[in-house]
Amino acid sequence: MKILFLADVFGVPGRRAVEEHLPALRERYETDLAIVNGENAADGAGITGKLADKLLAAGADVVTLGNHTYRRSGIAAYLAGSERVIRPANSGSETPGRGLTVVDARNGVRVAVLNLLGQLFLDTPVSPWEVVDGLVDEARAAAPVVVVDFHAEATSEKVALATWLDGRVTAVIGTHTHVQTNDARVLPGGTAAVTDAGMTGPHDSVIGVRSELAIGRMRSRLPVRFEPAEGDVRLEGVLVTCTEAGHAEDIELVRIPA
Ligand SMILES: [Fe+2]
Repeated sequence: MKILFLADVFGVPGRRAVEEHLPALRERYETDLAIVNGENAADGAGITGKLADKLLAAGADVVTLGNHTYRRSGIAAYLAGSERVIRPANSGSETPGRGLTVVDARNGVRVAVLNLLGQLFLDTPVSPWEVVDGLVDEARAAAPVVVVDFHAEATSEKVALATWLDGRVTAVIGTHTHVQTNDARVLPGGTAAVTDAGMTGPHDSVIGVRSELAIGRMRSRLPVRFEPAEGDVRLEGVLVTCTEAGHAEDIELVRIPA
């Protein structure tokens, strides 16, 4: 079976690219399940319930999030009532929403999707290492196929978690840094992994933001309101092929001009 994962959807350009291309991509790749990371869907930071619904309507079975989950008003209540839009499981015990969900793929196989935040260089309330084993046990009890979106800054942490989970989950897909890494591989135990799946959004930019604004803030250290860029929009992510028992057979990078 095949699972398509689209990385960090950035602003209007990223969301439009998903709406325009995801239905055809699902057919082209004969995808049984589509997962979309949507944490930058609202102007590059956060997501609203309305935008999450648009990603679901475009063909995403599950939407994952990250460190910007709660940037927009109203999203907490939306997440509290959503089964298919999940936030990192280690966001803290007081935060609304769920970090693990189980859905039926088109071929009828149950798939668990787990979202976790890294702790290196991010303000993460709970270490992913403290919770990951229990969550993976919970996921495996509910579904044979388990996909982890590990939203983290550091390559070392993402490689380490994928290696730690090798043989226990189907895929560990890194997100957050918006630059697709050239290390998609199936680990010896049968877990597909990539350090970062990239960005679905404008690549003529500094990781999605208009370049002059991002560079201006770095050079001046003054507050600058970021705006999404527009040029070179691409859909990026990975396509994972696995058995119905959850054993990964292949992972390939997806990089498609919008
Ligand atoms: Fe992020």
